[in-house]
Amino acid sequence: MTELDALREACLGCTACGLSVRRNSVVFGEGNPASPLVLVGEGPGETEDLTGRPFVGKAGQLLDRALADNGLDRTMVYICNTVKCRACDWNDGRARNRPPTEAEVAACRPWLERQLRLIAPKIILCVGAPSAKNLIKKDFSITRERGRYFPCAFARAAIATLHPAYILRQQGADNDGGYSLLVRDIGRAWAAAQRLLQGPEASKDPRDAGEACQPTLPGV
Ligand code: URA
Repeated sequence: MTELDALREACLGCTACGLSVRRNSVVFGEGNPASPLVLVGEGPGETEDLTGRPFVGKAGQLLDRALADNGLDRTMVYICNTVKCRACDWNDGRARNRPPTEAEVAACRPWLERQLRLIAPKIILCVGAPSAKNLIKKDFSITRERGRYFPCAFARAAIATLHPAYILRQQGADNDGGYSLLVRDIGRAWAAAQRLLQGPEASKDPRDAGEACQPTLPGV
């Protein structure tokens, strides 16, 4: 058993916050732990809670498409989340997804930290603002700062992109909801990770490569 497998086993029994009470699964993460690129989302939704796998609902399907548009798939990256259990409110026996609270993010952070330290990726791609606020800086602005490289304690650099669930909400007949930005950010993160893998000659600090990105976000 690898150290990452042992961490997963331990995480499956976590009761550090209230999300453990009604969960069906702990969604630890999956993919290639030897990858130089880790994608960190917000947290599992309904489908992820039912299957125990990250990003397998509608947002996940869009993420898969954006990976494929870069010639990538799930065997080439590692995918996990800021919180490992579904955050939702219950009303009349029905669950409604909600963002995880600060306390829930803090309770889950030791798992994420250990996971990232074991994987030791070159680049972390934060998928959505909650992930960027947790791993880059508290006041991260996805509108102003997506697509740029930042220092990160768990990789050579971190970069944030739009969450595919946000993109799905924005998409209309005449706009892609920011999908092209997601594809571009994944491509840049992968290219930077590859450069860093190739050694010092190729590995110009990716933070230097970060052109300032001033995207036009639909609906913002
Ligand atoms: N959204 C996320 O942030 N993570 C998932 O695993 C699924 C949806």
